[in-house]
Amino acid sequence: MNAPINVLILAAGLGTRMKSDQAKVLHKLGSRPLIAHVLRTAMKLNPEKVFVVVGHQAESVEQAARAAVDAAGAEKLSFVLQLEQRGTGHAVICAAEAMKQCRGSLLILYGDTPLVRPETLQNLIAEHERGKYAATFLTIRLANLPPYGRIIRDPQGNFLKIIEERDCTPEQRAINELNPGLYCFGMAALFGALKKLEPANVQKEYYLTDVPEHMLAEGHSVMALFHENAAELDGINTRADLAEMWKRMRLQTIHRLMDSGVTIVDPDSTYIDDSVTIGRDTIIHPQVMIEGDSRIGRNCRINSWSHLTNVEIGDECQVLNNCVMVDSKLTAHNSIGPFAHLRMQAELAEEAVIGNFVEVKKSKLGRKTKSMHLTYLGDATIGDRVNIGASTVTCNYDGKQKHQTIIEDDVKIGSDTMLVAPVRVGHGAVSGAGSVIIEDVPPDTLVAGVPAKVKKKLKE
Ligand code: UD1
Ligand code: CA
Repeated sequence: MNAPINVLILAAGLGTRMKSDQAKVLHKLGSRPLIAHVLRTAMKLNPEKVFVVVGHQAESVEQAARAAVDAAGAEKLSFVLQLEQRGTGHAVICAAEAMKQCRGSLLILYGDTPLVRPETLQNLIAEHERGKYAATFLTIRLANLPPYGRIIRDPQGNFLKIIEERDCTPEQRAINELNPGLYCFGMAALFGALKKLEPANVQKEYYLTDVPEHMLAEGHSVMALFHENAAELDGINTRADLAEMWKRMRLQTIHRLMDSGVTIVDPDSTYIDDSVTIGRDTIIHPQVMIEGDSRIGRNCRINSWSHLTNVEIGDECQVLNNCVMVDSKLTAHNSIGPFAHLRMQAELAEEAVIGNFVEVKKSKLGRKTKSMHLTYLGDATIGDRVNIGASTVTCNYDGKQKHQTIIEDDVKIGSDTMLVAPVRVGHGAVSGAGSVIIEDVPPDTLVAGVPAKVKKKLKE
């Protein structure tokens, strides 16, 4: 690809058929909104600029779009406001001013077509440039005839025009070559044709789909390029479309994972995002959900009813039943649960273990440290080989601020100990059951009571 490529994504519509107060492109497919899928794919083409037309909930859509790209992508991104949604052609007209400095070809995508692969778009662009067409766009064939624009050709098979389903005669409606809505245009020819658009149709909208016909009338050449894999170019119009696509995407991901050596006990009840990677010989039990940017290592076991979001899990780890883990890390040889909750950068060093009903928030547990039952560890830094007895609580919140608890190596915290933060427990110290620790504990001492007092020095 020599000429620069620019991308325009149309995302201003509400999506009436979703029956939602939320703009359609904000609805999620997997863990990402529709707009994020399209944008991430667009960025893979290494475009010069990417314009997004926003309208309904413009601010939220803009935010979702920015969140979907990295810093380099953000530099390329700009937004155009379409105040009133008067059709896909009108959306492009609204963007014309912002794009007037752009040269080369313009790829136009709809924000509701999330599964298209970058290779497909690359082919479209390459074909467009090879044939020096004014417009090149993909067509598909579907027997069930969704409400897509119909591709009208002459008896020789030359493309004539696209007619929206609502504007079709019954004969035209029966045509099964359809417009999935992915186009590549020459900038100058596009700007010329936009001037010719008129809302002379049932919806009284300016249709982008009228552009190719106008280009032909001007003597330009236009290419309607048949694409075999129709499912890839599906658009979302209804909640049922969304659920159906989500399911398809999940199964694709699950098959990719199984092919790479992951055991998925029950593919039908396992929910794994396309962004997730999992190492060989890891076993995923039924009813597990793994979302976001999650990485799981080799030889792990993820048991049923666990929900993992943005996690990093090293090799040989076990996540027992019913764990919830968000933005957190297991290093290697860890076991958590059943019923454990890790969140906000919780991190377990190698061989650390947390058990039933243990919550770890914004805390680090050192190597071989254990906390097996009914415990809250928040804003804590805990050393190696520490044992935390049942029902321990880091009392990190004084009603106004959160405070830190530091527990050094080789400490034994007795059952039902309250650690009133900020507080530090020195290495080798021991607390008796039921202690309320309100001040720092020196190393190698035994403390007990309420409030906890030094009972004896354990080592000189
Ligand atoms: C469009 C095509 C149709 C194609 C179908 C494929 C037109 C006229 N029709 O129909 O031929 O088969 O997609 O899915 O283009 N949008 C705006 N501003 C507007 C209107 C729409 O930004 O004023 C955006 C929407 O947010 C959406 C996209 O354009 O992301 C497509 O709009 P939608 O209303 O879904 O078009 P369809 O009726 O599906
Ligand atoms: Ca649509």
